[in-house]
Amino acid sequence: MDGNITGDHYDRLAAKYDENWAYSPAFVEWMTGCIQERLRITERDVVIDVGCGTGLYARGLARYAAAVVCVEPSAPMLAQVPAGEKLIPVAASAGDLAVGRVGLPHGGYDAMLLKEVLHHVGDRPAVIAGLARLLRPGGRMLVVMLPTRISYPLFAAALELFTARQPDPAEIAGDMRSAGLRAELTYESFPLAFPTERYLQMVGDRYMSLLSHFDDAQLEAGVAEIRRAHPGERIAFTDTFAFVLGTSA
Ligand SMILES: C[S@@+](CC[C@H](N)C(=O)[O-])C[C@H]1O[C@@H](n2cnc3c(N)ncnc32)[C@H](O)[C@@H]1O
Repeated sequence: MDGNITGDHYDRLAAKYDENWAYSPAFVEWMTGCIQERLRITERDVVIDVGCGTGLYARGLARYAAAVVCVEPSAPMLAQVPAGEKLIPVAASAGDLAVGRVGLPHGGYDAMLLKEVLHHVGDRPAVIAGLARLLRPGGRMLVVMLPTRISYPLFAAALELFTARQPDPAEIAGDMRSAGLRAELTYESFPLAFPTERYLQMVGDRYMSLLSHFDDAQLEAGVAEIRRAHPGERIAFTDTFAFVLGTSA
């Protein structure tokens, strides 16, 4: 992880993670569909979800797969992956997997998901190359991530910091190609709407790891800035995701 800020963030957020990140069952269903459309998981496939968090998407992917290995470095997040014979928890980071520091339950994987994880990973080209070696022939690696610019109703300093820190999906596609995968980049959008107070509460809870870089006073000023910009009862915006699909020969 990129230092203690991120690790502490997810350890602290774990209990509220699904509440703040699932947004709605419709969103999770939509996202699971976008993932499955690309990974094309079938019942014999063994899947690995790297940085699975609470297993929000691993749970849905298990419906299609023989098994889903759920890899996550934050113990409180991993503890929330539901027990189930198809979901296999492994405490590790993407970097650990890439260099073979942890034993994994299968010899290779048909499909790999990295959803909103790579911005936490250092030396991404090497990690992507190491992870690509875990794919079976014809295996698929899907990176789901935000673009470098987002239209979230955050305060200006948060949006600026986001753009400064977020890797470019096109670069990830390039890293996949350097790792010997065929890579394809597509985008999909979902309309989100929240009662304004609910969204402000999520920001106040630092629902995005980005917000952990602001202290309490900065966050309070940020929430006031959002409230001034959104005086109505609801906040609506479009959430756009990049999907980078790499396929091994
Ligand atoms: C935004 S959450 C996404 C969780 C899940 N993929 C989802 O979409 O619900 C990011 C997750 O990446 C994990 N993470 C952070 N650094 C990581 C690393 N170096 N390798 C793997 N996972 C990491 C965090 O602990 C957290 O659970």
